[in-house]
Amino acid sequence: MNEVRVGIIGCGMIAHRHMAIYTHIPNAKVVAVSEIIPERLKGFAERYQIPEENCYADFREMLKRDDLDTIDVCVHNNLHASVSIACMKAGYDVYCEKPIAATSADAQMMIDCAKKLGRKFHVQISSLMNAQTRVARDMIANGELGNVYFANLTMLSSRRRPGYDLPQFTTDFYTKELAGHGPTIDLGVYLISQLLFVMGLPKLKSVSGFAIRGLEYDDRLITNPYGFGVEDFGVCLAKFENGINMQIQASSAANINDQMKTYILGSKGGLEIIGADTTGGPFARAANADAAALHMGNPALKFYGNGLGGEVFGVDLNVWDRGLKEARTNPEISLYDDNQVHWIAYKTGILTDETRYNTPEIAKNMLLVTDGLFLSSELGREVTVDEIRAMVKPMARTEQETPFGTIHYDLSF
Ligand SMILES: NC(=O)c1ccc[n+]([C@@H]2O[C@H](COP(=O)([O-])OP(=O)(O)OC[C@H]3O[C@@H](n4cnc5c(N)ncnc54)[C@H](O)[C@@H]3O)[C@@H](O)[C@H]2O)c1
Repeated sequence: MNEVRVGIIGCGMIAHRHMAIYTHIPNAKVVAVSEIIPERLKGFAERYQIPEENCYADFREMLKRDDLDTIDVCVHNNLHASVSIACMKAGYDVYCEKPIAATSADAQMMIDCAKKLGRKFHVQISSLMNAQTRVARDMIANGELGNVYFANLTMLSSRRRPGYDLPQFTTDFYTKELAGHGPTIDLGVYLISQLLFVMGLPKLKSVSGFAIRGLEYDDRLITNPYGFGVEDFGVCLAKFENGINMQIQASSAANINDQMKTYILGSKGGLEIIGADTTGGPFARAANADAAALHMGNPALKFYGNGLGGEVFGVDLNVWDRGLKEARTNPEISLYDDNQVHWIAYKTGILTDETRYNTPEIAKNMLLVTDGLFLSSELGREVTVDEIRAMVKPMARTEQETPFGTIHYDLSF
């Protein structure tokens, strides 16, 4: 098994999760790390025993090494394209955190760059990597739901603004400059991507949407110098060429109770998607937990309608047990149960362009929907996919202030 030598860029909250997952991948080794905040870099290196000579304030210096195979990008949203493109131009394949970027225009740029330079590129979307998603995808593809005409995604939180209500998260989550957008993409990336994937990635036709920073804010709690610039509520109806309509409601803070409801309706059957994984998968959640512990809070699927021998309403499809059986009868399925396992298998050629999940494309399609929501809200009318493609611009940063000076990002390739 080829060893894959990894360099990480950004040693914040999510990089710790990546480190926990790498301990489960025998042929992946994190060799070097980069972080602009000196004390964070030092703390990270000490915790994971990374020698000082392999730690970099400036990732561009790290890219000059000749012993790294891939780069794992763990910086914030509007730096995903900036840093990923710099890495690809320096000769690296890239694994990037979600969301791929803040807009579909950025995502397209990253996909084009990877294609032109012949780099492999993968994006973290943990909701895709489990039996829940596979079972739903296969049932829809096999016609068990009949004609699918509607999908609903409600993800309302009364108070869950990262960095504002949840101080353990970085305040970058609520800045337009670094995050791009709020809960619509931050949470939406998992759930919209999952819905699109299981429905066979239908082609978007138009979107009618509305986004607002609707709540009153306590300025004393806004500590990021950029301020709170993202929406706290977004809603849309997206229409697809194959006749499917998808309704999305997303909030990180609204004056209502928490509500989570994802379902797909078809002429023969409906599926309720419960507890989609937004936590990075079992390796991320509990590095050493046993199967029983992992069972807690795991994704589930319920079936409604005509099937399974009659008319049923809310039959648990027991995807957890199905997943365990699948893994015993087809060990290769483990390659589809974790993002980083999936990435390393793709990187080493075990998964190919045909057999891997094309996460950059899935992520870009998800952003076309959210771009439509924001553009429609701005224009006050429904927008077509052609208008979204023409009017939505990249938000990737071309400059970044750091303790050691300004980094200029050249996004051309
Ligand atoms: N925190 C989570 O629970 C979580 C979960 C899933 C995905 N993510 C995604 O991961 C990304 C990072 O989120 P986070 O919570 O880890 O943020 P974070 O702020 O904790 O970490 C990002 C780190 O990147 C560093 N950084 C910025 N520019 C850099 C550069 N040029 N070179 C090197 N380091 C640089 C920052 O100093 C910071 O330490 C976001 O896109 C987010 O959406 C986060």
